[in-house]
Amino acid sequence: MVQSSFERLGPQLPALAARFYQELFGRDPALRPLFTTDLALQKVRFAEKLTEIVWAMPCLDELLTHTRALGARHVGYGVRAGDYQTVGAALLDALAAVLGDSFDEATQEAWTLAYNLVAETMLEGAASARPHRQLTGVSGDQTAGESHLIPNDPG
Ligand code: HEM
Repeated sequence: MVQSSFERLGPQLPALAARFYQELFGRDPALRPLFTTDLALQKVRFAEKLTEIVWAMPCLDELLTHTRALGARHVGYGVRAGDYQTVGAALLDALAAVLGDSFDEATQEAWTLAYNLVAETMLEGAASARPHRQLTGVSGDQTAGESHLIPNDPG
């Protein structure tokens, strides 16, 4: 829907960009001084970036769909929400052990973020695979909602 409506825009894309900045500064004039680049150029950049994002969306959509399905299958393997934390910690420790010094703080943060994103998406899929249990809140079955499976707090 996003992509098809974006296609319908066609040659009206510059008009959209112009209208966007008009709406934006209308809502909050204090934002205007943040844009130091020539506004005509900024509008072109905005339109280009928006096009890029809209065209990349199907890939992301597919990835999320596959990851949710993977999470839903894991319910069938007997995996519980809390196990994601254990697996994540095991993965990070294994990476640290094998990579040694090159597994620095920034690398650890990046892996934590990446794992948490995947795990949260899988937990979303898991939650929809067992909606009644989630709704009634059966104990020991806490699913998504925990935004930090592994605290991103190195050291
Ligand atoms: C980033 C998170 C994870 C990824 C990417 C992942 C990936 C996979 C994949 C690709 C499979 C093969 C079967 C399938 O595609 O459905 C699988 C199976 C399995 N996973 Fe995971 N998994 C993750 C987290 C977990 C967690 C947290 C547990 C809990 C201990 C777990 C336990 C299992 C088990 C028990 C199986 C079935 C193994 C078997 O058939 O013997 N996984 N996983």
